[in-house]
Amino acid sequence: MAGKFITFEGIDGSGKSTQLRLLAGDLRMRGYDVLTTLQPGGTPLGRRLREAFLETEETVHPMAELLLFAADRAQHVNFLIKPALQEGKIVISDRYADATAAYQGAGRGFDEKLVNQVIKVATDGLKPDLTLFFDIPIEKAIMRASGRLDEETKQNRMDREDADFYARVRDAYLRIADREPRRFKVIDASGPINEVHQKVAEIVGEFFSSKK
Ligand code: TYD
Repeated sequence: MAGKFITFEGIDGSGKSTQLRLLAGDLRMRGYDVLTTLQPGGTPLGRRLREAFLETEETVHPMAELLLFAADRAQHVNFLIKPALQEGKIVISDRYADATAAYQGAGRGFDEKLVNQVIKVATDGLKPDLTLFFDIPIEKAIMRASGRLDEETKQNRMDREDADFYARVRDAYLRIADREPRRFKVIDASGPINEVHQKVAEIVGEFFSSKK
């Protein structure tokens, strides 16, 4: 596939969505054809799924949650991500399969093998070329996420998890970094936006020069 697939990951409140916008802006200015998207919610079906299971007060069974994230991802991969990559675009997704490994695997406690199987069928094996993980201390993440609870529209069920849950999620992300250091880069995201953006630009710059 001709394009490049970059994903952004981080625990809630890590500032990754702001960083994604900044990077996409930079790349577009340099003439790249960039598609940005987010999971869950990058397709019309994904937006409906998001409302149905993330922005709801209803108790959602963890298995239903796992499969709904997977359904959203299958739709996304087949109708948005793969076609864009085939057209040579740079696709940047706010979250992807690593989020399922971290949140549903480590967070909810599903067996790693099962989670990996679900990811594999949902993505048809499509892996990111580069993943940036925005790492911040759990306390900071919880503070930022709880600030969001007031903003009616951004509130979702996952924002209400406790510190243990986020600690498990963060550890799972860091284990992926140990396993796949070439693809999965950890960025200290606790500093000011510009500083973090500099780090992003450096890593992405290196990534593109290594692909030439
Ligand atoms: P979102 O509002 O997009 O939050 P954020 O800005 O923090 O990314 O909500 C996405 C939530 O869904 C987030 O708490 C992580 C969770 N999630 C999973 O649990 N599994 C997944 O596979 C994905 C993609 C997201």
